[in-house]
Amino acid sequence: MNDKATRSRRTAKLATPTSLGTKATHDISGALNALLADFFALYLKTKNFHWHVSGPHFRDYHLLLDEQAGEIYATTDPIAERVRKLGGTTLHSIGHIARLQRVSDNDADYVTPLDMLAELREDNARLADRMRETHNVCDEYNDVATASLLEVWIDEAERRAWFLFESTRHGETPA
Ligand SMILES: [Fe+2]
Repeated sequence: MNDKATRSRRTAKLATPTSLGTKATHDISGALNALLADFFALYLKTKNFHWHVSGPHFRDYHLLLDEQAGEIYATTDPIAERVRKLGGTTLHSIGHIARLQRVSDNDADYVTPLDMLAELREDNARLADRMRETHNVCDEYNDVATASLLEVWIDEAERRAWFLFESTRHGETPA
């Protein structure tokens, strides 16, 4: 038996039956797994800033970022399970996340509070853009269930971006 046949036999047990078709499973799962990596990366980045934020607005920012990290984390399990319902396989490890994530890490020793909020606002806005792109893939295959989940998550990402935008206005100096 060749490698390909061995591999397909090994993974056959993980192929949940779905009427959407092999190509839909492949394309939608691929897009969702990349999004899942982004959600994990953004979760940890938001927690990183929650832990390291400082300054006069500490309490507000610290609590806002914790609330946002919780919302981001709560999305991860439904994304992974959606992939499995479609007959795909999902992420296995932190290394797998690192290979797929498009959200960039910020390992700087010190980031100003306003830079933290601005960076996360941008990350959430880009995440919403990528979810809209994934929504288009779902539309191609008439996968209304994934599309409907994405609509909620897009709204949540836009809400996070809005809160982050308004919070940065604390730092504006009066004209
Ligand atoms: Fe905390």
